[in-house]
Amino acid sequence: MASRTEDFESMGPETFDSPHELFRRLRAECPVAWSSGWGGFWALTKYDDIINVLSDPATFTTTIQNVVPKVATSRRRPPLHLDPPDHTPYRRAIAPLFRDSRMAVWEPAVRRMAVELLEPVLAKGEADICREFSYRLPIHVLAEFFNIPGEQANRVRDIGSVYNIALQERNDTLVQETSEQLYGIAKDIIDLRKREPLSPDDDPTSALLAARHEGQPLPDDMILGTIRQMLVVGIIAPTTAIGSMMVHLARNPQHQAYLRAHPERIGDAVEELLRLYTPYRGFARTARRDVEIGGRKICAGEAIALVFTSANRDEDRFKDADQFDIDRPVRDHVTFGRGPHNCPGAGLGRLQIRLALEEVLARTKGFEIVGDIEMTRWPEYGPLTVPLRFW
Ligand code: HEM
Repeated sequence: MASRTEDFESMGPETFDSPHELFRRLRAECPVAWSSGWGGFWALTKYDDIINVLSDPATFTTTIQNVVPKVATSRRRPPLHLDPPDHTPYRRAIAPLFRDSRMAVWEPAVRRMAVELLEPVLAKGEADICREFSYRLPIHVLAEFFNIPGEQANRVRDIGSVYNIALQERNDTLVQETSEQLYGIAKDIIDLRKREPLSPDDDPTSALLAARHEGQPLPDDMILGTIRQMLVVGIIAPTTAIGSMMVHLARNPQHQAYLRAHPERIGDAVEELLRLYTPYRGFARTARRDVEIGGRKICAGEAIALVFTSANRDEDRFKDADQFDIDRPVRDHVTFGRGPHNCPGAGLGRLQIRLALEEVLARTKGFEIVGDIEMTRWPEYGPLTVPLRFW
């Protein structure tokens, strides 16, 4: 691997705004940038470069490293860890469970969970909306989404919350420990559904067990990996996205006031906030051969982070890209990726964030930030703590 000059520092402390300032500079001065942090990686910061890489899985594989920093794991977790066509049977099995008509069925249950978790938080008057709410909601939702029965659902919620915090705090020992526990839970779910199958139309595990590829069932270890993948990939982004949304609205009371007066625009606001504060910046590919992007030579084997958080503020794609514009004519942000690995769970992610915001706005008159915002690090963007005062 070639020795490289450092274009930017990726491991230092960050604020809520500093990553956006860095990416703005990189887009202008060095859009394909090298950092020696996190084991060394290229960062693509321009929208078009990212779309091109996502559209070319033959050259840019996910099988070696699909996030920066690389997660130490010996196991394969479809569909993200496989390139097409190998990844396709797993996606085909799970994607129908997230379609719009299914999300409409899920809406009352997700709203109930959001309200149950929010009520005690709002009642305190002051609370950390991340630690006390947004860390919890996604794993509560997934426990129901996977039809996990009572006692075991509590385990999923407990372990999922600890895993979520450990991952964001880069506590590798605890990540490994809780990851294995999540594998154990995924295995128990599979055993349960083998004994007591549910309809593949509304149960992800039953859908994976019922799926056939070239006439054969999907291999057990890969079904295990898929369930484990979903348990994790589905909990992190909503956590930080809700935190970012609350920071933006606390800083911009005029936007809060507008949405309180026009609750029917909350879905559009969520879409714009997901563009402005994109929770994933470190999903990655590895070049299979030497390639040139934006005049820089990337060698075979080097990791390339697709900085969605930057692409979504690319001035060449979005007019006044740093502005919150709920009526923005161009909405094709890459918050949920693009191409063969685009997020199948986008509908469930959007649903949680929208319902959380609807319920916060309906139950408060206002809120403000009353302490320090602690930020996550690569591969995510967004806050880990947001102390708020509600009234
Ligand atoms: C705000 C919430 C979410 C965001 C921003 C998000 C974002 C993303 C992105 C950017 C990718 C593409 C990764 C790549 O190309 O390397 C992805 C993939 C994926 N997401 Fe999401 N996600 C969210 C919520 C969820 C939820 C709730 C689930 C389901 C439980 C989920 C399941 C998945 C899966 C299984 C993949 C891998 C798909 C594949 O490899 O074909 N996501 N997500």
